[in-house]
Amino acid sequence: MMTHAKTPAIVRTIAELRQRIKAYRRAASAEATVGFVPTMGYLHGGHASLLRRSVHENGLTVLSIFVNPLQFGPNEDLARYPRDEERDVTLAASNGVDIVFLPSVEEMYPVYPLLTTVSVSSVSEHLCGASRPGHFDGVATVVAKLFNIVQPDRAYFGLKDAQQVAVIAQMAADLSIPVEIVPCPIVREQDGLALSSRNVYLSAGEREQSLALSRSLAKAERWVAAGATAQELAKKLAEDIRQAPSADIDYVEIVTYPGMQPIIGSGALREYADSVLIALAVRFGRTRLIDNLIVKPKEAGDLLCSAK
Ligand code: PAJ
Repeated sequence: MMTHAKTPAIVRTIAELRQRIKAYRRAASAEATVGFVPTMGYLHGGHASLLRRSVHENGLTVLSIFVNPLQFGPNEDLARYPRDEERDVTLAASNGVDIVFLPSVEEMYPVYPLLTTVSVSSVSEHLCGASRPGHFDGVATVVAKLFNIVQPDRAYFGLKDAQQVAVIAQMAADLSIPVEIVPCPIVREQDGLALSSRNVYLSAGEREQSLALSRSLAKAERWVAAGATAQELAKKLAEDIRQAPSADIDYVEIVTYPGMQPIIGSGALREYADSVLIALAVRFGRTRLIDNLIVKPKEAGDLLCSAK
């Protein structure tokens, strides 16, 4: 679709980005807002949904593409993380993005590793925080830095990474960063697999088995309705996922959302008043996939309402 097609400015330095945003704000009316979508590139329909929402809601949309070394562990996929700058810029253009920020590692981190780290406790503790030590420090640090560079009015994040949304929202609140964090729903393939830049790693057989994640989550709501406790639900999900022979479970966790604290106790989840995040991380061969579902939105805060 060419509805929004325009050529975005390609910016590689912090100084030029600041200058362009400043010029926009000076020329635009007082109500004009800047929307920001941080990514690591190799863009897909999930990223596009964030971009479209930002373009719709703001006068200027900035997309950043930066494979952030700080958030990868020593044995993770930093070196082979997929990249395709040309395709990304085309996708940005067709979605109406105004500025694509493509900094080098040297531009973002003249001193590496940085001497300053942003670390969000408690919400970063479990799930991916436990299985990827240091990951959320890397995410919080780069996003804080990007927020300082772009100074957006709104920033868009996908609920595919629900814990990341919780970490960033907590960081922005704790540090009084004047940005509205906008959580956006998970975009999936027709067969249910959540879109991810890492899906290209999957062999044909692994791709087929990867449906175990979305399929088990589709059953979760039924199990909750039937009266399962958090522990029972986690057990049922794990059993279901293990029916895919190459599935190697990293975690199946049921936590409060957005507090990200394990739900313990013998009560049925359906009696639980607050939002509950059912989160999965599963390896297929060398590829680690995550997926999740947020249930019981009956007393959900703004975070969930704006995700609809
Ligand atoms: P990346 O994995 O490229 O994702 C960028 C944004 O796209 C994140 O907010 C992510 O949640 C969202 N996204 C990814 N897949 C999605 C899907 N299927 N549906 C909806 N949204 C989806 O997340 C990161 O990069 C990095 O950690 C970053 C925030 C850029 C910091 O480096």
